Amino acid sequence: LDNGVARTPPMGWNSWNSFGCNINEALIRQTADAIVSSGMRDLGYNYVVVDDCWFNPNRDSSGNIQGDPGRFPSGMKALGDYLHARNLKFGLYQVPVDKTCAQYFGAYPGATGSRGHEVQDARQFAAWGVDFLKYDWCSPEGSINDQVTTFAKMRDALAATGRPIVYSINSNSIHAKTGPQRNWGDVANMWRTTEDITNAWDTGQSNGYPMGIQNIINVTVPLASYARPGGFNDPDMMEVGRGGMNDTEMRSHFAMWAIMASPLIAGNDVRNMNAATQAILKNANLIAINQDSLGLQGTQVSFDGTRRVLAKRLANGDVAVALFNQGGSTTTISTTAAAIGKSGSSFTLVDAWTGGTSSSSGTISASVPAHGTVVYRVSGGGTTPPTTPPPTTSSAYAS
Ligand code: GLA
Repeated sequence: LDNGVARTPPMGWNSWNSFGCNINEALIRQTADAIVSSGMRDLGYNYVVVDDCWFNPNRDSSGNIQGDPGRFPSGMKALGDYLHARNLKFGLYQVPVDKTCAQYFGAYPGATGSRGHEVQDARQFAAWGVDFLKYDWCSPEGSINDQVTTFAKMRDALAATGRPIVYSINSNSIHAKTGPQRNWGDVANMWRTTEDITNAWDTGQSNGYPMGIQNIINVTVPLASYARPGGFNDPDMMEVGRGGMNDTEMRSHFAMWAIMASPLIAGNDVRNMNAATQAILKNANLIAINQDSLGLQGTQVSFDGTRRVLAKRLANGDVAVALFNQGGSTTTISTTAAAIGKSGSSFTLVDAWTGGTSSSSGTISASVPAHGTVVYRVSGGGTTPPTTPPPTTSSAYAS
């Protein structure tokens, strides 16, 4: 979506994965402070997104949406001011139907969705200083065409406010968890590719609830052609630092989100991060690959069912390559400079995790542990566009 924002994948934090409905203004402020003091903000994590359950279950007598006075006693505008004063940005969650997901499933009272209030809500969000709207289709209703029309209504309402607001949508309905049934780049800045993520490596789902990291990667890799500045596939908020995976798996999770040009939205409790979690979320080499100005998603170079190679062309002519081992034992994964779109015979490889540098005359190879990912930034020689274009339709993902 060409609305001036999300020219690179949005980065930040979202309350849902760790806190669900247990949110309040003290938590969000402490989180904002931790994002600053941990150095995350200065690495690019600037959107602080308050997910479901922030609102008063009743609109006011004029139909305006309001913050929950118990959880956010200072009001939503004050929360936005708190974030802006720290050079952070303010995100909120809402739905295009009558009930938010928590309301639909009975975890929160009310029916305060934006249906019929789109323009009014967009104006309210802008007045509060909202910079990011997560708009979540949590309803059994609606065809794909209804979804397009309805999501476009809020797109236009946000545009009409004149405030630059990242528009993040989740088109999955609770009836049809089929991944993106279209390229949503004309409607939104980012769009979910799967059902909800969970803190597990593999839940055995192709696209159902809940999705493990490996399952989401399987769905999102083939959608590479959709990504561009202003519009990115969204494989969901990260589970790094939430348990449920070993450090190798968490590193793969982050490395694959980085090379897939995915929004990097942390979902852990950033007030309490161990050293391993910090080292992953703050890996500047991977963040630079993710935030590259070309906005390309890494495309698949090869995959034999276990060993997956992705390559992402970067603005300065370098190519990032991920050697991802989906199997259960250590294996060697290899590709070549030519296969990732490089010409020439002399290359420098920088390992994104270790920072170590090596030279190569064309072979790109590493021993990769089970569920691990080695990422190299390859420089030298010339760069040509990828020779194997990704699929241009999403028919492969509907099932
Ligand atoms: C849906 C979304 C989640 C989260 C919850 C909130 O499940 O996919 O990301 O926003 O709703 O209820």
